[in-house]
Amino acid sequence: MIPEIEKILVSQEEIAAKVQELGSRISADYKGSELLVIGILKGAAIFMSDLVRSIEGAVAFDFMAVSSYGASTESSGVVRIVKDLDQSIEGRHVLIVEDVVDTGLTLNYLVDNLRSRNPASLKLCSLLDKPSRRKVEVKADYLGFEIPDEFVVGYGLDYSERFRTLPYVAVLKPEVYQK
Ligand code: IMP
Repeated sequence: MIPEIEKILVSQEEIAAKVQELGSRISADYKGSELLVIGILKGAAIFMSDLVRSIEGAVAFDFMAVSSYGASTESSGVVRIVKDLDQSIEGRHVLIVEDVVDTGLTLNYLVDNLRSRNPASLKLCSLLDKPSRRKVEVKADYLGFEIPDEFVVGYGLDYSERFRTLPYVAVLKPEVYQK
């Protein structure tokens, strides 16, 4: 464990087991149809790369980037598409993959936006959920772990672009934020 970490909330082993479990459920639910997985950059990139390899059957993927926190740990509530999809999703089975549902503002906006493009179906998969922070109603169809209201890093999640490559999900020591 690196010195900036206060505690590990979800271990590497727990993540690996959950990714397999979610992959099996998704494989069964989409059996026989091609799935388009849309990862929300950058936080979902690591989770998504593991998840798509645990899904059996035809899977295509694409990415979107939206503006979020910047360097702070509080949501601005402003959602803006920074990178859009490379392809049309009309008539396709789409699964959005996100790192964490916090206030829900980002996913609420994305779901509305993508639904207006007429996919055949649209579902959500999130590695983490912080239900106590919700400002708008959003529910993941596939969820990894519910966590308390704490700012977390690792397995794709960052604080000021740091700590994304940690193999676990962890809480930082308070002094890290004071620097
Ligand atoms: P929401 O719009 O408030 O639900 O926030 C979603 C986005 O905020 C996530 O995709 C993350 O990029 C970021 N975020 C929310 N909570 C955390 C956290 O605990 N650690 C790192 N990023 C977070």
